[in-house]
Amino acid sequence: MAKRWIGEGYKRTVGRVFGTSSKDFPTLEGHPAAQINAEEAMESQTTVQRTVRSLKKEFQVYRWNPNNPSQKPFFQSYFVDLSTCGPMVLDALQTIKAEDDSSLSYRRSCREGICGSCSMNIDGLNTVACLKPIDADTSKPTTITPLPHMFVIKDLVVDLTNFYQQYKSIEPWLKTKKAPKDGREYRQSPRERKKLDGLYECILCACCSTSCPSYWWNPEEFLGPAALLNAYRWVSDSRDEYTDERIQALTDDHKRLYRCKSIKNCAAACPKSLDPAAAINKMKTRHLISVRTEMYEDI
Ligand code: SF4
Ligand code: SF4
Ligand code: FES
Repeated sequence: MAKRWIGEGYKRTVGRVFGTSSKDFPTLEGHPAAQINAEEAMESQTTVQRTVRSLKKEFQVYRWNPNNPSQKPFFQSYFVDLSTCGPMVLDALQTIKAEDDSSLSYRRSCREGICGSCSMNIDGLNTVACLKPIDADTSKPTTITPLPHMFVIKDLVVDLTNFYQQYKSIEPWLKTKKAPKDGREYRQSPRERKKLDGLYECILCACCSTSCPSYWWNPEEFLGPAALLNAYRWVSDSRDEYTDERIQALTDDHKRLYRCKSIKNCAAACPKSLDPAAAINKMKTRHLISVRTEMYEDI
């Protein structure tokens, strides 16, 4: 009897879940407890959204349209209800674009800090909008502008042609002289691989280069912190056999590397917590050691 009663209860629960929610949570099909949890989470989220009072936050966004060149750039205010918006600044921009003004332009793709495309200046700091939480203080606006000292294509979209050409100039790929020993792959010990930590994670968002005063004033001669950090990534790779040539290419013209004055704006700006200034200093040290070694060899 008790067994039948429990069975009926289970069926009723499963029936309720499958009757109402299986179409909402197809991936949870066959997992009644998870279905119930998901359903309850949705209900409570709806209750919160119903009961929380509307929190309107002002976003002042830089606007400029190349189709209207006679109009100077200006700030446009948008008000976003934080109780219905996601937690990051990119969520606010998505809300504005979807519900308010589809003409607003910005780049974005992964929305999780991997592609580097949503870089912009938010309240005076370069960062990626998808990793920047919205400041919930509604008494003051959040100001959003394009990356500084860059040519603007439209609104928050800047021209990164020079930035990518500089990245390309460091030849960001493995260069070898001999075939791998086993004929198949170039191997690396865990210790050698560890040397790439803090370098390989760069997402090429350009937050560092566009916060660097030396790059602002010498964007063509100086390679900037992003390209130099990536150059050091390949100089540090135990499998690469062109280390000397790479350093030589970076220092033939001293402006490419030595325009860095170690002010460290780049490290402060990096949303991935990398330290391009440290990588640049290590590269300078390697260059100076190689110059000194050459001098001693000549004596
Ligand atoms: S440390 Fe060098 S690369 Fe970084 S911001 Fe300063 S000058 Fe630019
Ligand atoms: S070093 Fe950091 S700030 Fe610079 S491009 Fe890479 S991820 Fe972006
Ligand atoms: S959308 Fe990819 S880093 Fe922000």
